Amino acid sequence: MATGPPPNALAARRPSRSRCTASCGPTRWRAARRARPTDRPRPMPPDPWADGLYLRSVQYKTDANLSARQSIYAFQHPTVDLPARVLDLAAPAASDTVADIGCGNGRYLADLARRGFTGRVLGADLSLGMLRAARDHLNTATAADATCSSSIALISADAAALPLREDAADVTLASHMLYHVPEPAAALSELRRVTRPGGRVLIVLNGAAHLRQLRAALAAARGQDPATLAERVTLDDGEALARSFFPRVTRHDFPAELRIPDPAPIADYIRSMPGTHDHADPDALIEAALSALPVTPTGHRTITTHAGCLIAEFD
Ligand SMILES: C[S@@+](CC[C@H](N)C(=O)[O-])C[C@H]1O[C@@H](n2cnc3c(N)ncnc32)[C@H](O)[C@@H]1O
Repeated sequence: MATGPPPNALAARRPSRSRCTASCGPTRWRAARRARPTDRPRPMPPDPWADGLYLRSVQYKTDANLSARQSIYAFQHPTVDLPARVLDLAAPAASDTVADIGCGNGRYLADLARRGFTGRVLGADLSLGMLRAARDHLNTATAADATCSSSIALISADAAALPLREDAADVTLASHMLYHVPEPAAALSELRRVTRPGGRVLIVLNGAAHLRQLRAALAAARGQDPATLAERVTLDDGEALARSFFPRVTRHDFPAELRIPDPAPIADYIRSMPGTHDHADPDALIEAALSALPVTPTGHRTITTHAGCLIAEFD
């Protein structure tokens, strides 16, 4: 794999509100400015899922929380390999430029690398900790495949103000991240701006029923209305929003369920959520949520999953 600075086609052309603090290939990670100490307890923001400071410095300071949530899909029936399904739909040509906005710990980037993708790749994320995790995943993926020859850049950037020029990408991904942007329409506008006409924007979100049993159990344990734990932007919301920005939107739904024989992965999932650590007794909260989840005669806890991918196109 060739590594180096961001490919010219992707370089920023205008000053941006977002900082491009790190830009490198997976084997040439430039040290970012030292972050403020973040171990001091902070008050929980009113909407932690859309609070940039909380997301960068607590929830996604490392990929530990995201990894705990990703692990639970090992119990999915039928298994939905979401990065694989989405990249199959994206079908980038060999020389395309793919931008993954809110790339997180790099599951899509690593999958592209494992496929031997030869075009240019950009991963952008608000969190430096997630970019480090993405670099590590990319290093693992490319070490396993010496033939990988794509050029990869990782940058710290806000989806609502991307430091990229117009038409920079042929394929732009925004997977499970729109609900983190305070004004999702601003991100949609940026996703369209940085994608060339004739290219594709792929937006991945969850349906309203996704993890509904888990949300109901956690809400009951917290004494809250389950609606307070609903995602800020569901797949339906994303589809309506995408249709307001793009003339053509096609939707692909991937319904499935988790069948979990052991409470530990569910406990880890709940522990990764905002609010659990701040609870007076996190272990008691988790125990209460687990006991509110029905157990099947075969000893499983069954939880609905529903992710979907929107493909948005314009000329
Ligand atoms: C749930 S993770 C999804 C990661 C990855 N796209 C995936 O599907 O596996 C959400 C990611 O979006 C990032 N994020 C949140 N708000 C963002 C923003 N305004 N701009 C860019 N990235 C953002 C977070 O730091 C986190 O890495």
